[in-house]
Amino acid sequence: MTFTLSNPLRPAILAASRSTRLERGISRSKLTNRLVKRFVPGADEASAVAAVRALVESGRFISVDYLGEDISHPDEAEATVQAYLSLLEAYRSIGVDSSAAGARPLEVSIKLSALGQSLPDGEALALVNARTICAAAEEIGAWVNVDAEDHTTTDSTLRIVRELRQEFPSVATVLQAYLHRTEADCRELAHAGSRIRLCKGAYKEPAEVAFQSKDDVDASYLRCLKVLMEGQGYPMVASHDPQMIEAAQSYAREAGRDADDFEIQMLFGIRDGEQTRLIADGLRVRTYVPFGNDWYGYFMRRLAERPANLIFFLRSLVSTK
Ligand code: FDA
Repeated sequence: MTFTLSNPLRPAILAASRSTRLERGISRSKLTNRLVKRFVPGADEASAVAAVRALVESGRFISVDYLGEDISHPDEAEATVQAYLSLLEAYRSIGVDSSAAGARPLEVSIKLSALGQSLPDGEALALVNARTICAAAEEIGAWVNVDAEDHTTTDSTLRIVRELRQEFPSVATVLQAYLHRTEADCRELAHAGSRIRLCKGAYKEPAEVAFQSKDDVDASYLRCLKVLMEGQGYPMVASHDPQMIEAAQSYAREAGRDADDFEIQMLFGIRDGEQTRLIADGLRVRTYVPFGNDWYGYFMRRLAERPANLIFFLRSLVSTK
């Protein structure tokens, strides 16, 4: 069975990802915690840094996300900033020489909603908070990526990224192939120096703004990927899909790109063997490593993506071991 974006279970799981009642129930289950570890190395910074160290030793680049979204008070945004500043400080102990590589092996991925974007005057607050993180990352030679959230935030996110790039040109962002607008966004953002992560998109979006079937999303992903590969920027191919990984390599060849002119990105705990195989083939692979207590929304989106994850989860809930 292939799980597609049009699978009837996906909307229900994505709706559940926003339910606080379910969140309380699921988070309290000890069995869930065992499964969550497959996708989230831990709640504290030390677990994240240990995972990063192992990934870097295996030849991977990394991007760490401090889990959190949909905050309700500026203090929570400040706590998120502090978590990133502490993480970036801890990056120093990993001992990666970022000046030697064309690409920086260490990155942080930030969600603007966790930095205050949806609060009153949130765009200005998120920009200030993101700037603080970018300045600290610059100092230690790490990159920053601004993640994409639901479509109501896209315009605001791209405005903030444009502002950040004035001061920190290497700041990357994410475009979601399921949105109708994304091919045009790719054309606009495929300029020299522009790092763009292309993913399919993980949120529940209405048909007015997003393709609904897997075939349409895949076709859009391929069109967007071609635009990015033929452009002047640095494409980051975020997908576990063998078809997209193949296409990335062939479009890169056609566009005359070397293996260090783009990168493949996958999530922690997903297709680990494939990640190391791609490195052995000479490709750059960056692993996205989430950490923190606020794992519920992230975890539910992973369940929505793939029936095998959901079945494993349900089995762990009824297992007596
Ligand atoms: P999809 O889920 O369509 O699966 C296609 C095929 O890939 C499957 O049929 C199978 O062959 C293979 N596959 C997928 N999962 C597998 C598994 N667990 N094991 C084995 N094979 C598997 N989204 C977003 O909205 N905003 C964001 O900022 C980001 N950021 C981000 C960063 C990175 C590094 C990644 C990899 C992904 C994101 N995403 C994201 C999530 C993204 O939008 C999407 O939901 C997931 O990557 C799932 O889509 P795929 O392209 O992986 O394939």
